[in-house]
Amino acid sequence: MAHTPFHELLQSDLAKLEKNLRDLIDPHLETKDHLSLLNLACGRADETGVLAKVLAEKSKSAHIQGLDIRAPEIGQANSRWKKELEEKTSSDFIVHRGDRLLDLQEVGTPDIAFLRHQNYWNDKPVWTAIFDQALERLNEEGLLVITSYFNKEHALASKALEQLGAIQVGSIVNPNSRTLIDAPGKSVDKHLAVFKKG
Ligand SMILES: C[S@@+](CC[C@H](N)C(=O)[O-])C[C@H]1O[C@@H](n2cnc3c(N)ncnc32)[C@H](O)[C@@H]1O
Repeated sequence: MAHTPFHELLQSDLAKLEKNLRDLIDPHLETKDHLSLLNLACGRADETGVLAKVLAEKSKSAHIQGLDIRAPEIGQANSRWKKELEEKTSSDFIVHRGDRLLDLQEVGTPDIAFLRHQNYWNDKPVWTAIFDQALERLNEEGLLVITSYFNKEHALASKALEQLGAIQVGSIVNPNSRTLIDAPGKSVDKHLAVFKKG
């Protein structure tokens, strides 16, 4: 049987993410002239085009700021998305620790803090600090959105966010999430949830 090329799998993952994100945040995101999104622990930020589309439906212009500790991935994100985004959306990706977010004055107070495949399970103290500082940075009406690879990790991260004072206002389980063959039990954007500041 022929294998589906990897780029097609990625495209299919992103199409599902786009639909689920729109369904998840649409009821909670006010239309504004300008929206800003902070993509924390963004890696290569493959989902930037999807985020730009969703923001464009709610604003005249948008800025996507991404950060991660991995320099090569941040380099790839910058070179790809400086070319590929439409004019009304700008982007900028930097190497920085999400648990040192409060050191970064230029981030301002984003409308959305986004964490795709958050990794709370892997390092609870660091991810608690990332969640805490993301909530502190967020504007008062802002949304914090997470996606997770598996049930247990999602439940633990949601609980940690609630212990930090966040209120969950929506969630989606992705029934068509692609299983990761090399990571048993994990699948792409299996869970999505949106939180507001308490
Ligand atoms: C599971 S990966 C998710 C990457 C990307 N969001 C995605 O969905 O493909 C977790 C990411 O967290 C990043 N990371 C780990 N600790 C971090 C920290 N303290 N600050 C920022 N990023 C961190 C890793 O470099 C990695 O890119």
